[in-house]
Amino acid sequence: MFSHKKVETNSILMTVLILLVVSIGGIVEIAPLFYLESTIEKVEGMRPYSPLELKGRNIYIREGCYNCHSQMIRPFRDEVERYGHYSLAAESMYDHPFQWGSKRTGPDLARVGKRYSDNWHREHLIDPRAVVPESVMPGYAFMLETELSYADIEDHLVANVRVGVPYDDEMLANAMADLEAQVDPDSDQAEGLAARYGGVQIRNFDGQPGKPTEMDALISYLQVLGTMVDFSVYKAEENLR
Ligand code: HEC
Repeated sequence: MFSHKKVETNSILMTVLILLVVSIGGIVEIAPLFYLESTIEKVEGMRPYSPLELKGRNIYIREGCYNCHSQMIRPFRDEVERYGHYSLAAESMYDHPFQWGSKRTGPDLARVGKRYSDNWHREHLIDPRAVVPESVMPGYAFMLETELSYADIEDHLVANVRVGVPYDDEMLANAMADLEAQVDPDSDQAEGLAARYGGVQIRNFDGQPGKPTEMDALISYLQVLGTMVDFSVYKAEENLR
């Protein structure tokens, strides 16, 4: 139809043709997204963060831990051998904002949950070099003495509901009591907390009695990372459509 020379010497014609080609590519990539029911495959085990874990997550963001730690295991052999099963999209579906990151001064933390004891985390966060002599991670000893501020916890849950996290009315109404119960296995509230958040770890994370501290919240968050999906039963193939 067009001779090459005509196209290459007429910049208007060239621009129109480029736009045409690019928009076909765009439509092919974007249009299917409107017809897919969901772009994130649902995976069993995923639940919203408990109130204490959510507070810990906020501290993680406040302190900028993401400047040195990623939370996404790429699907490459070296990564999978070091950190475990590669990260699934569903595993960050309740993260607003997600913490994938790309900077790894320290290791990826996507599956650090249950890998170390609470005590290890506590000692490591107080003084990383006491546990890993060559570490360049800063210490966060103040968190052990800083009482957690959580009067606004229900608002945090509501904010997450607004962006699609399925906290129900019961979770909202119990937000503050659930937060306190997670560091106190003997409380009457603990049973309800466990029913609302499947598999939630309930114990005194910072190892000291009294009110929840920032250390409690941060360790509860680290200990849940990557533990919600049970990879002994999860098979990627079975979930493919
Ligand atoms: C300046 C960079 C830096 C910052 C900021 C930082 N870390 Fe680290 N982190 C490291 C390095 C380096 C290591 C590896 C050495 C070690 O274990 O201390 C590490 C290790 C860790 C580990 C052990 C991981 C493993 O698999 O062995 C955890 C958990 C951790 N950091 C949590 C945190 C948290 C939580 C924060 C924020 C409160 C944080 N880090 C902030 C650099 C950092």
